[in-house]
Amino acid sequence: MKKKAKSSAQPWWRSGVVAALDIGTTKICCLIGRLTTSNTLRIIGVGHQSSNGLKSGTLVDLEAAEERICATVDAAERMAGERIRHVIINVSAGQPRSQLISHEVAIPGKEIGDAEIRRLLDPAGYAASISTDHEILHAIPVGYSVDGARGVRDPRGMFGERLGVNLHIVTVAAGAMRNLANCIGRCHLEIAGKVLSPYAAAIGTLVDEEKNLGVTLIDMGGGTTSVAVYFDSQLVHTEILPVGGNHVTRDIARGLSTPIPQAERIKTLYGSCQPSQSDSRQMIEVPPITDDGMVELGTVPRELLVRIIFPRMEEIFEMVRTRLEDAGFDKVAGRRAVLTGGACQLPGAVDLAGAILQKRVRIGRPRRIEGLPEVAAGPGFAVCIGLLDHAMTQTKENLAQDAVKLEPSSAGSWSRLGQWLRENF
Ligand SMILES: Nc1ncnc2c1ncn2[C@@H]1O[C@H](COP(=O)(O)OP(=O)(O)OP(=O)(O)O)[C@@H](O)[C@H]1O
Ligand SMILES: [Mg+2]
Repeated sequence: MKKKAKSSAQPWWRSGVVAALDIGTTKICCLIGRLTTSNTLRIIGVGHQSSNGLKSGTLVDLEAAEERICATVDAAERMAGERIRHVIINVSAGQPRSQLISHEVAIPGKEIGDAEIRRLLDPAGYAASISTDHEILHAIPVGYSVDGARGVRDPRGMFGERLGVNLHIVTVAAGAMRNLANCIGRCHLEIAGKVLSPYAAAIGTLVDEEKNLGVTLIDMGGGTTSVAVYFDSQLVHTEILPVGGNHVTRDIARGLSTPIPQAERIKTLYGSCQPSQSDSRQMIEVPPITDDGMVELGTVPRELLVRIIFPRMEEIFEMVRTRLEDAGFDKVAGRRAVLTGGACQLPGAVDLAGAILQKRVRIGRPRRIEGLPEVAAGPGFAVCIGLLDHAMTQTKENLAQDAVKLEPSSAGSWSRLGQWLRENF
């Protein structure tokens, strides 16, 4: 067994270099970014590999996952020309749960300041509401109250006897988090932060106006479909469903009797969840699996492919609708939905989601960041960009708090980036 990475003395954000690692069911992606002296983010390293050892976002084979993670990070490091020790990672495993908690502390007659808010938000104060086998991943204040008067956005400067908060808590099974930490540690990396996958995708794609009006983000990955609901600019609810694009591929493989890799290719080339009149005339070549294991070509009408894909996509969106209804967040979250993740690229997904969820739907492409290669600009990279964005925000806050200025970075990484892009894209 490999040794764990040693803790480094310097805080992870001090160098202004941050790394994001999206460990997905079908792909692993690592982005390394540098905060420039003009306070903007620039991508200096990209690594991207197919995944292994995960099922529906959960680690099932530690060694297989470790090997792919190491290779992905290594590729990003080679492009960046520097080693990283800390990564911000996504979380989809551990049966994440969203719960809203109301919590109050006494502040006898005091002016409310940062110290009172820190005391209010101290997890020790509401730990009893969290089940013992779960740990807190996010604790997001969605509104304060002073002496029972709700709807206070920022209580600092106010006076009262009781300060209260409504917290959106996301918890995950502690065992699953230990497995993840173990796997990352075996790659000689330390976890600098963890973000629930749909929350990261939301950070990477949503605009402020959408969050303000209320929006539902749906990240459709290979093994999971995850949901983040925003209301009044705050993340108020999350869901993770163990179903995604790989289920569509498996349906095609079964329905057309073709191997999984061929089914995947057929899906991305000809797949759709929107029937059209020409589907019955368009013939698709399908390599079926024959009895003796040999592969020979046949043809089927595209109509058959669409008839296989449609019910699975319909089922996924109906599951999302049901979960949101059960949690009471179907109407609250406004009339808009944003789709991210590789599986939302299936033609017709936007219209189907719109019809089932009764919302205006768009595809969420990650926000443009200097140095981001075109290959990482699609909706499948929303989570990784969101992780990097989150890490950058934290870095800026920490640097500002400590009044630390960054050293101007060497020009070396720029020329390396140019050469790497020419060689790889
Ligand atoms: N052009 C496309 N059309 C349809 N589906 C696509 C396309 N490109 C990728 N996919 C599907 O997207 C899925 C992978 O999406 P993504 O990369 O977001 O998943 P992941 O992050 O690895 O998995 P998860 O988030 O579930 O752990 C696969 O099922 C793949 O077949
Ligand atoms: Mg994903």
